[in-house]
Amino acid sequence: MKVYIRTYGCQMNDRDSENIAAEFVERGWEVTEDETKADAVIVNTCSVREQAEIKAIGKLGNVIKWRKSQGANFLPVVGVTGCMAQNLGPKLVKILPDLDFIAGARKTHKVADIAIEYYNKRMAGVRKPELKKGEKRTPATSDALVDVSDDLTSHLYIKKHLEKTGAKQVCALVSIMQGCQMNCSYCIVPKVRGVQRSRPADDIVDEVKTLAERGVKEVTLLGQVVNAFGRENAQKEKTSEFVRLLQKINDVDGVERIRFTSPHPAFFRDDLIEAYGSLEKLCEYVHLPLQSGSDRVLKEMRRPYRAEQFLRIVEKLRARSGRMSISTDVIVGYPGETDEDFEETRRIFRASGFDMAFIFKYSPRAGTLSAERPDDIPEDVKEARNKILLRDLEKQSLAFNNALIGTTQQILVEARAKRGENMFMGRTRTHRKVVFKGDESLVGRLLDVKIKAATVSALDAQLGPDFEAERGAE
Ligand code: 5AD
Ligand code: SF4
Repeated sequence: MKVYIRTYGCQMNDRDSENIAAEFVERGWEVTEDETKADAVIVNTCSVREQAEIKAIGKLGNVIKWRKSQGANFLPVVGVTGCMAQNLGPKLVKILPDLDFIAGARKTHKVADIAIEYYNKRMAGVRKPELKKGEKRTPATSDALVDVSDDLTSHLYIKKHLEKTGAKQVCALVSIMQGCQMNCSYCIVPKVRGVQRSRPADDIVDEVKTLAERGVKEVTLLGQVVNAFGRENAQKEKTSEFVRLLQKINDVDGVERIRFTSPHPAFFRDDLIEAYGSLEKLCEYVHLPLQSGSDRVLKEMRRPYRAEQFLRIVEKLRARSGRMSISTDVIVGYPGETDEDFEETRRIFRASGFDMAFIFKYSPRAGTLSAERPDDIPEDVKEARNKILLRDLEKQSLAFNNALIGTTQQILVEARAKRGENMFMGRTRTHRKVVFKGDESLVGRLLDVKIKAATVSALDAQLGPDFEAERGAE
């Protein structure tokens, strides 16, 4: 039997989907990239912006339409999980009554069991309630299972990884916690993912060791507010739980690089800044969401820091390591955002020197505090502000990349590049994508390469003469 999994949203969702896939494999199923050959289709969803929900509903609608077009005996199970499943729950049965199951964001570790049970029932001849000719399915004739109940232990189960066959696995994601304890006015995440629950540190270290034994060289630790790891069980010690975890992972043999995402400025203390440089595997790249550069807007967003405090963290990080790369998230068009507020955002954006950023147009989400206010910034103003920041970003990214031309950079070779034969891709410690001519044997290796050219999004490189000589001697 085969499962096809489609994932929307963030890296935490990617990670959950991998866990779902591993659960299927443990039960004797295969993972397929071809949804037309699947016995179960799972869509793992996001609800952070309205557009994310529209996309996932569209996808599910298409899968169901296609299943119907194949005739009544066509069996694949179609289920939805993740944040949108949690957010809409039974409402999804109204929108898509042909769904087989809806498992919330805190139930992803149960998805394989739910889907397989459903599949077995189908195989045993159990069918959906019959419809009269021409009749459409409604919630009354739907047999969709809906499970969006809370589960305070779900974070303990996100630790299974797929063993890659064929290509080497170089990078891995590790979810170290679930949920969120912040209260940002615009954000649906606390509602859908629940309160913050951190995994036991030893369990995480064991997971990383297993990955390293399989050849993984780079781990990215994931959490909604990753640097608040362990704080809900708070003993307030000098070194934070998160930094202590980084130290333990830094000691794992075989791991060469550590990254994490996303930290929150409010918990970015000096011990974390000092970890750069003192933990040699910790890469000089931080994704630090700003959201707005206006103190007035930050306050309304219930972000507990001010623009100058944010800048101070950036300055300290840059003082700690000259080559630090910093990226961010910004929301434009938050209710009541004035031109002056936006100019403040631009100022902080420039002063921070971000070389990568995700810029989002504000999208009201039912159930959040800000959704109670009118979404009063017109779409064309949101669009214009979005464009302006993207243009600022482009300049900053290009300047960062251009400054690397002529330098030698260490890269970790990840995989074959999409561009051209014998082209491979790796990343610098600062997370810049580097493309170069090489061969399969280099995948998983740390190499020094010479940067030859740059665009906004990538660098072109050549292997150094030492390396060519080494290869010539082989
Ligand atoms: N509208 C627009 N962007 C949002 N984000 C979170 N909630 C919203 C919303 N309602 C953005 C934030 C967050 C990123 C993952 O998504 O910038 O950091
Ligand atoms: Fe989307 Fe947030 Fe859920 Fe990630 S945690 S999938 S960004 S709603």
